[in-house]
Amino acid sequence: MRKPIIAGNWKMNKTPSEARELVSALVPLVKDAACDVVVCTPAVDFAAVSEVIKGTNIKLGAENMHWKESGAYTGELSAAMLKESGVEYVILGHSERRQYFGETDVTVNKRVKAALAAGLKVILCVGEMLADRENGVTDELVALQTKIALKDVSAGELKNVIIAYEPVWAIGTGKTATAEQANEVCAVIRSTIKALYGAEAAEGITIQYGGSMNAKNAAELLAQPDVDGGLIGGASLKAPDFAVIVDAATKG
Ligand code: PGA
Repeated sequence: MRKPIIAGNWKMNKTPSEARELVSALVPLVKDAACDVVVCTPAVDFAAVSEVIKGTNIKLGAENMHWKESGAYTGELSAAMLKESGVEYVILGHSERRQYFGETDVTVNKRVKAALAAGLKVILCVGEMLADRENGVTDELVALQTKIALKDVSAGELKNVIIAYEPVWAIGTGKTATAEQANEVCAVIRSTIKALYGAEAAEGITIQYGGSMNAKNAAELLAQPDVDGGLIGGASLKAPDFAVIVDAATKG
């Protein structure tokens, strides 16, 4: 059985004092969750969030990292920096990184390998643009993104990979994929994993949906057989809304 996971992606929101306030409100609301609960926060919030979630069931995640161990990469963070800051999960290949910061499938793959080698759990994001969907290439595109991102990742390492299917047209737009669309593409990702790693790995891998998931639509999305969790942007910034989604995963 796959354990569902609900992860918040705070993006460029919340100063350390605001972060402290948000996770403090979240701790009692999700303490009985049957799913894994993660908050992926800006790096400046790691210390404040770590302090508040100590001894709770909430885990800390980062929103990106560089693949090199150290060096002249102004503004970047290494896996070791994340680990020492209490980070357990890292989002890689988010569509905003791909769209605005020039990330490619190849650089996403480098990040995935470096994160796994350092013992981090990876939330790998894949998803099509609206034009891709309209051109009927969603399945091929998502399979390709998945395949390149996982190049040279072993079956053992794959156990620390979660894949988030995030249709770009649904992110921050209020346009959610229908439960059927979400399930369909999550199933495509699962069959891509099956082709690469075999049936057992495909059954075992956790696949999230992300893109305008909220307190109202979460239960329907999470009830789909191939949707094992959610990556939540906007709705993760409000503790009560995020808690409702966690609760929906617990029941789903
Ligand atoms: P959203 O973002 O929930 O605000 O659409 C999801 C994401 O980008 O991970």
